[in-house]
Amino acid sequence: MRSFVHTAGPSRVIFGAGTLDRVREEAERLGGSRVMLLSGGSRALRKDTERLRGVLGELVTAEFAGAAMHTPVEVTEQALRLLRDRSVDCLVAIGGGSTTGLAKALAVRTDLPQVIVPTTYAGSEVTPVLGETVDGRKTTRSAPAILPETVVYDVELTLGLPVPATVTSGINALAHAVEALYSPDATPVTDAMAVEAVTAIGRALPALHDDPTDAEARAELLQAAWLAGMCLGAVGMGLHHKLCHTLGGAFGLPHAETHTVVLPHAMAYNAPAAPETMERVARALGVPDAPAGVFDLIHRVGGPTSLRELGLSESDLDRAAELATAQPYPNPRELTRTGVAGLLRNAWQGRRPEGPPDLRPLTEEVVASFAGCENPRLRQLLTDLARTLHGYTIRNDLTPQEWQFAIDFLTEAGHITTDTRQEFILLSDTLGVSSVVDALTNSRTPDTTSSAILGPFYVAGPPSAEHGSDIAGDFTGTPLWADIRVTDREGAPVPGAVVDVWQSNEEGFYDVQLPDLDGPVLRARFTTDEDGRFTFWSILPSEYPIPDDGPVGRMLSAVGRHPYRAPHVHFLIDAPGYQPLITQLFVRGGAYLDGAPGQRDAVFGVKDDLITDFVPRTGPTPDGRPVEGEWRLLEFTFHIARLGD
Ligand code: BEZ
Ligand code: FE
Repeated sequence: MRSFVHTAGPSRVIFGAGTLDRVREEAERLGGSRVMLLSGGSRALRKDTERLRGVLGELVTAEFAGAAMHTPVEVTEQALRLLRDRSVDCLVAIGGGSTTGLAKALAVRTDLPQVIVPTTYAGSEVTPVLGETVDGRKTTRSAPAILPETVVYDVELTLGLPVPATVTSGINALAHAVEALYSPDATPVTDAMAVEAVTAIGRALPALHDDPTDAEARAELLQAAWLAGMCLGAVGMGLHHKLCHTLGGAFGLPHAETHTVVLPHAMAYNAPAAPETMERVARALGVPDAPAGVFDLIHRVGGPTSLRELGLSESDLDRAAELATAQPYPNPRELTRTGVAGLLRNAWQGRRPEGPPDLRPLTEEVVASFAGCENPRLRQLLTDLARTLHGYTIRNDLTPQEWQFAIDFLTEAGHITTDTRQEFILLSDTLGVSSVVDALTNSRTPDTTSSAILGPFYVAGPPSAEHGSDIAGDFTGTPLWADIRVTDREGAPVPGAVVDVWQSNEEGFYDVQLPDLDGPVLRARFTTDEDGRFTFWSILPSEYPIPDDGPVGRMLSAVGRHPYRAPHVHFLIDAPGYQPLITQLFVRGGAYLDGAPGQRDAVFGVKDDLITDFVPRTGPTPDGRPVEGEWRLLEFTFHIARLGD
């Protein structure tokens, strides 16, 4: 069972196109009348900043355009002096992560409310976390006052964001989502937000690379950035963020670019310890391998792929690894200095993380080869078989030896199969496939008797037997009197139903398994009378092992499973106008009816309503046959469905 604590940040979010016009009303909502307008002073944002100044009008009391990357405290102090000089009562910031960082740094020192207008995909606008740089060292802290009160997302402000910044900022958001999935603090809510963000980023980035003005893709990416930011605010991050902080703080590497280069390598490092996260990311991106898929995505959209190109010198790699592993922190995989140094070396060189090759074209070619099949059902089944088998092979990174083993296994199953020994049915039964097919075919209503698998020991056309006859031949055992009725769903008798019955002897063998036996024995065909009824004598069945001297038996013992079936009698009921019913009745109190998975019936055949009393009796028998000692009474009514029911 999963336990978790989920805290949702109380920020207000306005999302849409043209929402910049609403910033004044939002500032006033927070009681702002003396606003400080913060920006990074970038030329690209000059126009938008001007528009915002216009929207805020006379509320603007101070302006600071010097926000800088990694939020150096000197810059914060400079802005703080201005803020105090002008008695500012509300902060409004427009820009990327640096401007948001400055607003947060001021808010934590003054407790002033903030309205943030993000123009990139940083996501930090919805977190209560502040990263600052003091003397080249990046520190982070978290406090409620840091969380911006209101965020105004205006998709129009992002339309002009150049492709390189779109890519690195988008991958920065992707990093939040990926690390949220394997965070020890993850909750169902952060999981859902993260998967949605990964899917959207994987779709929007290539679209924006091809057409940076695609407004729908811009909106999708901005929304994903918000979701990923919510993840960042709700859960702790791991190795990737630690590495990026170290590289940014100690070596002055640019924030979003560093995230972009490092992410596939941090994922590759963590992949062995976080297979579920990698599987989810791979599925969301539609790629076979998550780290390689993220690397390919970055490459496809022209993002930086090596730390070398960001200006890090090779001689700094060891120190970076030392700094990043100096203090322990939660991460799915244990952090070793040599492991992290290897990761950084790969990132420095821009090596594609090793993943399975992209085999989708091969799968699609095989699928396309079925396109000419005129039988649509056959085409569907073969298509899905190819996809499923390819997926199985890829996901498990199957070796040639393992595949050969599987082929040898099936070959042996073929060799051991005869008219009376069917290894493929045993394989299907022990893998539970027969029960799945049975459940799909015979999903019945509560007022019809459950079906159960046929098994390999049915022989078509058994000898017809009189009511009350004994089908046990010379076999000895506890005598069993069976009094069986067949009715429809409402309980009305079904006369003329042909019922085949078969079972094993006390030693657990069917007649077909005993070559010296003069059979058929313990199998017969009855026809119901006017009351839908028939009776017969037999012996109490016992548990028995399915044939286990072949490859299926070896498979069971390799996984620590026993080969036993719970004691049962088989019935196949066929009545004109009714759906045939193949089923079994299990002896209540018998072995292998319950227990842990793998300890119960070896072929997953037991259903609760088929467990029946085989009542112990002594004394006179129903047909007056003399019996010494105990005998058993089986009374059962099968309810069958009409054709078309
Ligand atoms: C049977 O009940 O006869 C049976 C079913 C599956 C495998 C082996 C035997
Ligand atoms: Fe059986």
